[in-house]
This record gives sequence, structure tokens and C-alpha cells, in this order.
Amino acid sequence: MAEMAKAAVLVAPGKFEIKEFPIPEISDDEMIIEVEGCGVCGTDGHEYKRDPFGICPTVLGHEGSGKIIKMGKNITKDFSGKPVKVGDSIVTCVIPCGECNACKNTPARTNLCEKCGVYGLFPDDDIHLNGYYATHMVIRKGSTFFNVSDMTLDQKMLVEPAAVAIHAVERAKTTGLLRFDTSVLVQGTGPIGLMVIAVLRTLGIENIIAVDGNDNRLEIAKTFGVSKTFNFTKYPSFDAMLAEIKEYTLGLGAEFVFQCTGVAQAGANAWKMVRRGGGLCELGFFMDGGPCSINHHFDICNKEITAVGSWVYSPQDYPNAFSFLKRAKGIGLPVEGLVTHHFPLSQITDALETNVNMLGIKVAVVNDEAK
Ligand SMILES: NC(=O)c1ccc[n+]([C@@H]2O[C@H](COP(=O)([O-])OP(=O)(O)OC[C@H]3O[C@@H](n4cnc5c(N)ncnc54)[C@H](O)[C@@H]3O)[C@@H](O)[C@H]2O)c1
Ligand SMILES: [Zn+2]
Ligand SMILES: [Zn+2]
Repeated sequence: MAEMAKAAVLVAPGKFEIKEFPIPEISDDEMIIEVEGCGVCGTDGHEYKRDPFGICPTVLGHEGSGKIIKMGKNITKDFSGKPVKVGDSIVTCVIPCGECNACKNTPARTNLCEKCGVYGLFPDDDIHLNGYYATHMVIRKGSTFFNVSDMTLDQKMLVEPAAVAIHAVERAKTTGLLRFDTSVLVQGTGPIGLMVIAVLRTLGIENIIAVDGNDNRLEIAKTFGVSKTFNFTKYPSFDAMLAEIKEYTLGLGAEFVFQCTGVAQAGANAWKMVRRGGGLCELGFFMDGGPCSINHHFDICNKEITAVGSWVYSPQDYPNAFSFLKRAKGIGLPVEGLVTHHFPLSQITDALETNVNMLGIKVAVVNDEAK
């Protein structure tokens, strides 16, 4: 009889069931990994609460790592050319379709693939083992993955959010506005905003303002070296806070703003904190947060803002995420401390509740049955 795997299936919003599935036979282009652990993302929180992607039933979990226990004979190397063997630990990136305009014509931008697959965001199918909230996962043909055997589990679980931040900062750099002493404002200091701050610090940008409504998160931003924090809940209005932000930035506003909240009104406010001639990177909306209104005269035209959007990451961002994690540690940033909670797979509901109630920063689900 086939060996069995366990997976936490989100059968309906708010409801997980731990189910057993046989570990399938694999082809020469596939692998089986035994999951080590996986971070909980804001996206998982949204899926858990209301299934906005319409993928229920599903096995979630996309910020994970696993140890290769079976490997098809055609697999010898990871995406960067590093050899892989049974027993090595890997993290996965996107699964590009290989056929759409982005895949064919802009191979370094497969993050824009029209049918991009991501483990942990598939609807359930015959394979079942498609997400990291499980004991095992099937790595299908066409996957991009990296050998991370030299990393700690917390580092491995931070690779994916680090890649989001790396990609956003690379997009921001295309504006030509990020220099050594640029004054940068990061709006939203959840895991993503904090990662952006850490990436900026490893680039030598020291002049960083953080804005959030949560003092605990702003305190963590301080440990990442931001020079000033603003808690928007302490002001009678956004304009009152904006006046202070302007005062702090020589009456001008920030030279560059990263929008990392997922809140539509915050998306509108972000433009107002940018000075004339400045720039903005919008990365806060992996999910639709609804429309918001900006004034094209005051907020864009008159200020001549250079704006970029940032959408997840390409496999090419992963090696940079690895170097970033090492460099961040090297300059004493407590990035690994972002993983504040570790739950066993059997307590998946507690892990998701901790995430949606913002009781931690990065909550992790660990496969405590790993051999
Ligand atoms: N671009 C991408 O590819 C990508 C990838 C992953 C996540 N995201 C998005 O990034 C966003 C942030 O992710 P996260 O995991 O850090 O989420 P999170 O919900 O943990 O953090 C958001 C933070 O924004 C703060 N906030 C809310 N309203 C605010 C306001 N008006 N002003 C300032 N701060 C405010 C919250 O207090 C919270 O700390 C999410 O909305 C997610 O969809 C985007
Ligand atoms: Zn994520
Ligand atoms: Zn494609």
C-alpha cells in the first residue's frame, strides 16, 4: 500500500479538516518533498476567512520548505544550477505556464504569467498534495525551486516574503529615485513592510519613516533601524499626521513611498505623502482591496510622481532574497525574529487565527511529524 500523507484541507471558509491521502507515484520530472514548515501569509488569512480566490476546498501554504524524499531521474539541478539530491531541502517559487506572452517574450518577468501556478493556491485536484500545510507535497513538472539546505527553518520560511520585498525594491530602483540618502516612507509594517524596510537597510538606505496603526509593529520597525515612526491612530485625521510627516521631511514629504497595507484608503493616502518629483511603489494589494480615489491633478500630475507596481516575484529574485537574508543578519537586523509563532500542523486553525487577529508577525506551521 502507498505511504500516506496528511494535509490540512480548507474545506470551507473558517474550517480545516486534516485528511489523509496516498503519496502518489511520480514521473521522471516530479519530486516528493516532506514538508519542514511554512509561514502563514496575509493571503492565507483572507482565504481562510472568505475564500476570495474561490479555490476551496484547497491545501494552502506557499511560504514553505521541504526535504526531497523522492526524485524523478530528469531532475538534477535547481533553478540556479545548483545540484540537488534526495535529502536536500528546497523552497519553491512560481510555476510559469511557459506559453503566455510573459513566459514567451519576457522570461525574466514570469511573475506576470497569465496562468502562473503557485503551490498553496491551487484548488484541490487528484494530486491533493499541492500546498505546504501538509506533511508532504508533490513538486510537479515545470516548477521552479531552489536548494536551501544551508539555511535554518525560519530563514527558509522567510524566503518568499523576502522575495516579495526584493522584487518591490528592484521595481522601485527602476525609477532612479533610490539613492544612498533618499528619505523613504514605508506605509504598513506587517511582515511585508518590515521586509521592505530590511531590504532598504541592506542597500544602505538609512533615512526611513514607518507608518502603521500598531505600536508593537512600529517598535519592531525601530529594531530594523527606522529613524521615525508615525501611528496614524493617534491623530484626529490623516491630514493632521501628514502635516507632521511634512514637518519631519523639510516641509516636502518623503522622496519615495512603499505602500504595503492592503487597505484602500491607505492606498489613496500614500500618494499624498510623496514630495514633488518623488516616487511610489504600490505592492500592498495582492488581493483586491476595492477602489480608492486619488486626485490626478494634486497627487500625480502636479507632483510629477514616478510610480511602479510590484507583483510577487520571479525565480530570478530568489537568489537575491538569499543574499539579502545573509546580509541582513550580517548588519544585525533581527529578520529571523519576524517568525514569532510556531504551530504544529494539527493546530492549523490556531495558526490562522493568530494571523488574522494580528497577534504575531510571521506565524509558522511546522510539520512536527517530519522524520
Ligand atoms: N505585491 C505582492 O505581490 C504582494 C505579495 C504579498 C503580499 N502583498 C500584500 O501586502 C500587504 C501587506 O502584507 P502583510 O503580510 O504585511 O499584511 P498585514 O495585514 O500583516 O500588514 C498590513 C499592515 O498595514 C497596517 N495598516 C492598515 N491600515 C493602515 C493605514 N491606513 N496606514 C498605515 N498602515 C496601515 C496594519 O496595521 C498592518 O500592520 C497585503 O495586503 C498583501 O495583500 C502583496
Ligand atoms: Zn505570501
Ligand atoms: Zn505564462
